[in-house]
Order: sequence, then structure tokens, then C-alpha cells
Amino acid sequence: MCSYRFDTRLVHTGERSVNRADWHNATPTSAPIHGSTTFLYPTAQALDAAFAAGGDQVVYTRWGNPTIQALEALMADLEEGRGAVACSSGMSALYLALLAAGTPRGATEPHPRHILASRDLYGATETLLRDFFAAQSVAVSYCDMSDLAEVKAAISTHAPDVVLLESLSNPLLKWADVEAIVHYAHQADARVIVDATLATPVLHRPLVQGADFVVHSATKYLGGHADATGGILVARTGLLLDTARRYAIQLGMILGPFEARLIMRGIHTLGLRVRRQSESALIIAQALQKHPRIRRVIYPGLSEHPHHSLMSLQTCGLFGGLISFELANATREAAFAFMNRLKLILPATSLGDIYSLITYPPISSHRELNEAQRAEHGIGDGLLRLSVGIEDPQDILTDLESAL
Ligand SMILES: Cc1ncc(COP(=O)(O)O)c(C=O)c1O
Repeated sequence: MCSYRFDTRLVHTGERSVNRADWHNATPTSAPIHGSTTFLYPTAQALDAAFAAGGDQVVYTRWGNPTIQALEALMADLEEGRGAVACSSGMSALYLALLAAGTPRGATEPHPRHILASRDLYGATETLLRDFFAAQSVAVSYCDMSDLAEVKAAISTHAPDVVLLESLSNPLLKWADVEAIVHYAHQADARVIVDATLATPVLHRPLVQGADFVVHSATKYLGGHADATGGILVARTGLLLDTARRYAIQLGMILGPFEARLIMRGIHTLGLRVRRQSESALIIAQALQKHPRIRRVIYPGLSEHPHHSLMSLQTCGLFGGLISFELANATREAAFAFMNRLKLILPATSLGDIYSLITYPPISSHRELNEAQRAEHGIGDGLLRLSVGIEDPQDILTDLESAL
């Protein structure tokens, strides 16, 4: 599909790849849902050959299934990677990426030695690093990935074998220069994992900038309709892909075929949704900036955002659908009262849906951090994060203004 432009590939890749002979010489327009856990072959010899072919054949759904493979083909094409592994959640895709990126060439054991991570990661990712990897004696250090001098110094001090970052951070919306980070990391022989959940492939494609893995929580923008939980990892090279695939099979991380179909359907409208959400977010951010009950608005589309120019260059002028803002009355009580007064915007713990959603990071994404740790991250008691949906932006704004 690579000869078509991105928006065309969003709609078509992965569909209609079935064998016509199996469908009375017709082709289903959209990839069918194969719920079957097992696949039969006409002879034991053919089954033996299918086993020998590994991930390229379908034998048992934990190893691969045509519906899941259709989604993987779509994501590999969009991200311009060697291949993708669809997982049961964003967290499982991240865990898989960390294991695979930390496996030295030719080794069979997952073995990250030292992970250098963004200081302002999604809360559950930070918990995974602390409670799982650090607890198993993997060294974990942190730096501000939007500060290249700090990244360079941290790579030379710690010599990590894995660098993990979110291209657009959550909830402070800092933008990282992936290409420059990859340059420093690869010089030090470290592999780079980019969690691009918030940016989506519509804003940027980290593998094209040299990253080794890109990871998405498909639960967010890719699915986009609040009805499927999933994660996707896309690998830049065949070796990284094979390593990730092997661990995914061994650990049983595979996504279910029903979710795969829902997420694939969501991705077909990703371009339309993200552009609309970006346009609406800019209108809303500009209006909130002028509101007397708002202390500050964080949106990279605003010219005063410190990463506005870099992001503008690297994302063709799109800044995504997330806005964070701090209430002038920066207390938990005021934040709760504000959320309780909203009528249209849903207080749902997620982002990237067609519906506008509001979250309060201290009780949701960053709940597992204590007050001091949150303060260190710049997450105060007045901070709220709005995920702009595809509704009319004026209705979203009216709801915010009434609640303020
Ligand atoms: C940036 C980011 N990465 C990963 C995840 C985890 O995704 P999931 O909830 O699908 O496991 C989230 C969830 O909010 C997220 O925001």
C-alpha cells in the first residue's frame, strides 16, 4: 500500500487480504472477524508446515489470527515499520517494547540493564518502571526529554540500553525532538521506544525519525470510540519485530479479534478525527486563555508554548486534541466542583475519544504518585486535562464556561 498517500492508507491497508477461494470467489470489503482460536489444515503434513512457518501462518490465535494480522498490517504501513504486534492494552505493548528493546542482539532473555525514561511519563508507565523493572534490579533513571542538553548528558552519564519517552507528554504536553534523541541514543548503542499515543501517526511517525519501537495505547485515539481496549507496538527492524513477537506469544499478550476489528474501524477515521480535534482544541485553548477563572492554559498550538515552533515544524502545524489548564482557585475542592458542574464533557478516565472527556490527573493518570512526586512533575491541585472530542467546539466551550 506504500505507494498511496497516508490518508488513503488509513482507510484501505489491511482490508481485503483474504483468500477469495474461501469466500465463494467474493471478497469481503472489510476484514472479517475470525473468532476461531484454532485453524485446521487438510493434512498433518500441512499442519506441520504451518507450525514451521511460525508467525506467518495461522495455527492458534495466541500466535496470530487473520483479523489481528489485518490490524497489524495497517499499523505497520501507517508507521512505516517492519511489522506490528497488537496487544491486549497499551500497558502490555509498553511492557513488551521494554523487554524486546532491552534484549541484546542474539540473546534470548529479556534483559534491559538501564532504562532512561522521560521524567513526565504517564503515571502507570512510571509505576511499571518503578514497581516492576526497578524492583528486579533494572536501573531506571529519568530526564526531561524536551531538554536535549539534559538528554545528552543523561545518556553519557548512565549509558542506558533503552530510552523510553512519550513524544507528547501527558498531561503537561511537552514535545520531544525524537530525531535528535535517537541520534544521541544510537551513538551510545541504546534503543529508543516512543509512546506516541497522544500524538498519533497523524501528527508524526517516530520510526521514520529513527526510533526502534513506536507504541500506542489503541484504547485512545486509534480506537477512538471508547469501546475497545488494546495496544500496538510497531518495530523498525525485522530482528526487533521477531523478538517482540516471540515474547508476545510466550507471555500471551495478544489482542482479541473482536477488539482488533473495532480498533481497525476506528483507525479508518483517525485522520478526520484528529484534524477536527486539533482545530477545535486551538479554538478552545485560545478562549480559555482569556478566562479570569483560569490561571494558565497548556496547549502546544498556542504561540507562547515553549515547544510551539519545533512541534509546528515536525507535525505540519497540528497540535492534537489535548489541552491542560489550571484553575485560578487551585484546590482539589474547586476542581471537583468544576467537574461536577460540566454537562456535556464527560468525567471519563481516558483521552482520544469522539466524546470530550475531562480528567483530574491527581485522582486518575497520576494517582499512584504522592503529592510531592506530582509537584515534582508540575501537576498541581488545580490542573485538569481536557480531551477535545468531535462535537461542535462552541458547545464544548459553552459547557466549560458555564462550569467555570
Ligand atoms: C500515554 C499513554 N501510554 C499508555 C497508556 C496505557 O494504555 P492502556 O490503558 O490501553 O493500557 C496510556 C493510558 O492512558 C497513556 O495515556
